Amino acid sequence: MKISVIGAGYVGLTTAACLAEIGHSVRCADNDEGKLNLLRSGRMPFFETHLETIVQRNHAARTLQFEEVENAVKGAEAILICVGTPPLDNGDADLSAVANVARIVAKHATGHCLVIEKSTVPVKTGQQLKRQLQLYAGNRLQCDLASNPEFLREGTAIHDFFHPDRIVIGVDTEWAAAQLREMYRPILEQSFHCPVHPQCQHTPKPALIVTDTESSELIKHASNSFLAMKISFINMVADLCEATGANITKVAQGMGMDPRIGPAFLNPGIGFGGFCFPKDVQAFVRIASQAGCDFSLLKEVENINKRRIDRFVEKIRQELWVIAGRKLAVLGLAFKPNTDDVRFAPAIELIRALVRESAIVRAYDPQATEKAKAVLPNLDYCSSPYEASADTDAILLTTEWDEFRALDWERIRGLVARPLIIDGRNMFTPEEITAHGFHYISIGRQPAFSSDDEVFSRSKLGAALP
Ligand code: UGA
Repeated sequence: MKISVIGAGYVGLTTAACLAEIGHSVRCADNDEGKLNLLRSGRMPFFETHLETIVQRNHAARTLQFEEVENAVKGAEAILICVGTPPLDNGDADLSAVANVARIVAKHATGHCLVIEKSTVPVKTGQQLKRQLQLYAGNRLQCDLASNPEFLREGTAIHDFFHPDRIVIGVDTEWAAAQLREMYRPILEQSFHCPVHPQCQHTPKPALIVTDTESSELIKHASNSFLAMKISFINMVADLCEATGANITKVAQGMGMDPRIGPAFLNPGIGFGGFCFPKDVQAFVRIASQAGCDFSLLKEVENINKRRIDRFVEKIRQELWVIAGRKLAVLGLAFKPNTDDVRFAPAIELIRALVRESAIVRAYDPQATEKAKAVLPNLDYCSSPYEASADTDAILLTTEWDEFRALDWERIRGLVARPLIIDGRNMFTPEEITAHGFHYISIGRQPAFSSDDEVFSRSKLGAALP
């Protein structure tokens, strides 16, 4: 199929490259000329595992081309809208980029085309889009509209594209449904050659959910909000574990074995971040309110998440007594591992809070340093976790990168001023860390002391300090 993808961000570029990989002829467009030139020269605007290889291969084969939006929509059989829908100050999704694309499609698209909303949009956006297309194109264009939300996770987006649990399509004509079935045929049949995991050929075929546009739009917001709710729920249970002597790892394991609950998204920590959950929960509350439903449950999900940083700062204070002037290593800046994305990253919020308290922060991230420099230009960035740890009063683990699992803790023990690790992602069992002579604080579990720390451990002096 001839497909145009509008928007070369995380969702757009990944979708465009993967659609080209399964045999379509794809044009990926963006109104940022600089980004188009970067992509044409074989470089990437952001890091996503395996994406660069797929982009370069398909660009070289001319199955993936980068064009201006006006050109890209001409002659396309399917046009995927993948532009950003950032939050406005009042929490609503900003739909101006989506509306702009609609006007360009109305003016420049030709033939019979299917316009597909992939960006996360409020329910009933499809109706507005259809109206815009009719108003601006009149009878000039034969065009159907569909909703096809994406469920790609940053860091595993390529795998998620090729092996989804479900593909959701919201349509109101048979033709639109047939076009989408054709677009995803290799995925629905799992009949492609997996570009990253050749052994994936036995993955179960994804479910195809065919529904109306409004239900499809709601599925996306409801799914993200539900997952965010799961995280806030487990974070509250973790607090309760700390207060009662229980162990969150065991509690989550015991809960997750019930298939009605499931083990995923029960990892407690310093809260959810990224460009999706915080904005989608906020937008969903607004969407519900505009439809006359008070979704106060989700307001509390947001509140709990906001309090995670304060609570983590309190943990640090309890160990260090005074934060001002203390040297702290922050390991992890990205909002989660395997991405360089720092948008709404808890680590960034944490650093802001620590700097406000006059801590001396030294930060390290395997991928996100450049992006972090744009939001925290004056921070001391280090080129390795060892450099970041030198002479520090505490090491804070804020993103669970695999690189941190494999650190030489003996070496780090020799570098730090005080052997204290405060783990905001529960990356380790307490024994793994205390074995190296560290005092280990985590989330929803009791503080753990090394045997070197016996006097400290017996008196529990650290825990008793105000
Ligand atoms: C999320 C959804 O998982 C995707 O299905 C969706 O397509 C995407 O948003 C989107 O709307 O575009 P993503 O934002 O990439 O994907 O990241 P997640 O893996 O969902 O993690 C979000 C945040 O929750 C991260 O900060 C992560 O550290 C945190 N998290 C996740 C926890 O704190 N605990 C958990 O158990 C799981």
